[in-house]
Amino acid sequence: MLSSELRKMEKGNSLFELHVRKLSVPVCKSFVNKKGQVAPVTFAPESKKLTTRDSKEVAAKFPKVAALCQNKLMSARPGHSKAVQGKRVAVLFSGGPAAGGHNVIAGLRKVLGKGNQLFGVKAGPKGLLEGNLFEITEEAVQRITNTGGFDFLGSDRTKIKTSEQFEAVKKTCRDNRLDAIIIVGGDDSNTNAVFLAEYLFDEGVQVIGVPKTIDGDLQAGKLLPISFGFDTATKIYAEMVGNILQDTPSSRKYWHFIKLMGRAASHVALEVSLQTRPAMTLISEEVAEKKSSLREIVDEIAQVVVMRAQKKINHGVVVVPEGLIEFIPEMTGMIVALNDVMGSRQDLGTLSLAQRRELITAKLDAANLALYNSLPGFIQDMLLLDRDSHGNLPVSQIPTERLLIEMVARRVKELDPKVKFSTNNHFFGYEGRCGAPSLFDAAFTYNLGLTAGSLVLDGRTGYMAAVTDFHRGGRVLAIPLMGLLNIERRHGKEEIVIEKALVRTNSPAFRFFAGRRRAWAEADCFTSPGPRQFWGPTSKQVPILVALNQGYPDLKFTI
Ligand code: FBP
Repeated sequence: MLSSELRKMEKGNSLFELHVRKLSVPVCKSFVNKKGQVAPVTFAPESKKLTTRDSKEVAAKFPKVAALCQNKLMSARPGHSKAVQGKRVAVLFSGGPAAGGHNVIAGLRKVLGKGNQLFGVKAGPKGLLEGNLFEITEEAVQRITNTGGFDFLGSDRTKIKTSEQFEAVKKTCRDNRLDAIIIVGGDDSNTNAVFLAEYLFDEGVQVIGVPKTIDGDLQAGKLLPISFGFDTATKIYAEMVGNILQDTPSSRKYWHFIKLMGRAASHVALEVSLQTRPAMTLISEEVAEKKSSLREIVDEIAQVVVMRAQKKINHGVVVVPEGLIEFIPEMTGMIVALNDVMGSRQDLGTLSLAQRRELITAKLDAANLALYNSLPGFIQDMLLLDRDSHGNLPVSQIPTERLLIEMVARRVKELDPKVKFSTNNHFFGYEGRCGAPSLFDAAFTYNLGLTAGSLVLDGRTGYMAAVTDFHRGGRVLAIPLMGLLNIERRHGKEEIVIEKALVRTNSPAFRFFAGRRRAWAEADCFTSPGPRQFWGPTSKQVPILVALNQGYPDLKFTI
């Protein structure tokens, strides 16, 4: 009966969900033992040491972890570990969701086997402070495998920084007799993981990081080409942008300005552009490098609008990276000044927007104040939003695409009053973070879970699980987190951080894009990649920028 069939689909049981859960996920060869079963690996140090410009100062801050890891990269060694039993391991998600998080849990559960227990920490780092843990069963894992989102555990953005917070984590570890914590997070959360590894060292609690973020800004060159979640998010956005592109020459009347999530880095915008080829894509890192002013950016877009109009093309798509506003030189200084003022006040949450504005703008110098006042009200207000606990401006809330539309419209009128310029604005962000993981992300995350669990069983701490060489079966690595740390001035003070991997304008992916963008602007050259596939010939694709930057022969991954 149709009605009973439809009732069965309730609670995460759509036909798609039922089938995708059973989708088999490829595993790196290292994890397959002689009997053909998935088994934990052990690790051996390579000769390669990871260093940054501040390695010495960083090592001094983490003497115990430094003595143990010596910043040495480790790779999975042939052969498998002897059965380790009785470990109690906790896993948590930190920061924004990214597709594949649930498969990290599935990989962990698999590799820990029946002899060890896995606990989920509810609602991110905050749950760790509160000791909000529950045991993860095999049955639960089967339900969440290959599903999107972080909803099985939840997540949050609490930064563990005060001595009370570190003590609270220690208490949670003692109360729950934990042997290890797995932190699934981005650059800030993995930085936090090193602090915890050092703090919990004498307790015998291991801390391992797993590289997550749709932004793609947690990378380590050949060792970690990309973080998980990026592939799914960009494939979802590329489908949506592709559909809009297909609409433009059909309706023949709109310019669409599309802001894409990705925070500071423009990897998401670049990847989506490579997949869809719109008329224009702004890359924040190039804007900063060329020191382009807002006026110059606006003029460049307006010139393309007019040029296309002269060819009777009154439509197009402009892709805008989420973090653009922070990279426009005149804005950068003003936002840093705002962050510094806001970082120094604890009482902002109690103030009305008007009080907030008065108090903060009173501290800006004349140039920054003039710039602030020149912006439309909807941007001014958003610049005063609360920063997250890592001090980040919530760029997802700032409608840069609307600011550009307003200014481009004025400029187009100046250049040629006869040009028709009808616009739509979009922001694609939350749509892409929690979709079911692409086959690439499903495999990547399952293998990251197997790697993180193996590191725990192998007695390691202060490492980040990594998988690389996707084009040749996948190589399993452990990256010493300390080897990624630098000291940077952030929010008015020196902080130890993992440097964000930004788009490099000399990278093969950027050069490929830059070599073709004029042609994409001059005529419609777009492609519509369609929805991501879980089965069939196009399912095994890596992100284009990974293939270009890593020098792969094609787009296929072969894990
Ligand atoms: P992470 O860096 O924690 O992975 O978050 C990524 C992200 O999706 C950004 O692209 C975006 O700016 C931000 O989260 C939005 O955060 P929120 O969920 O707090 O609105």
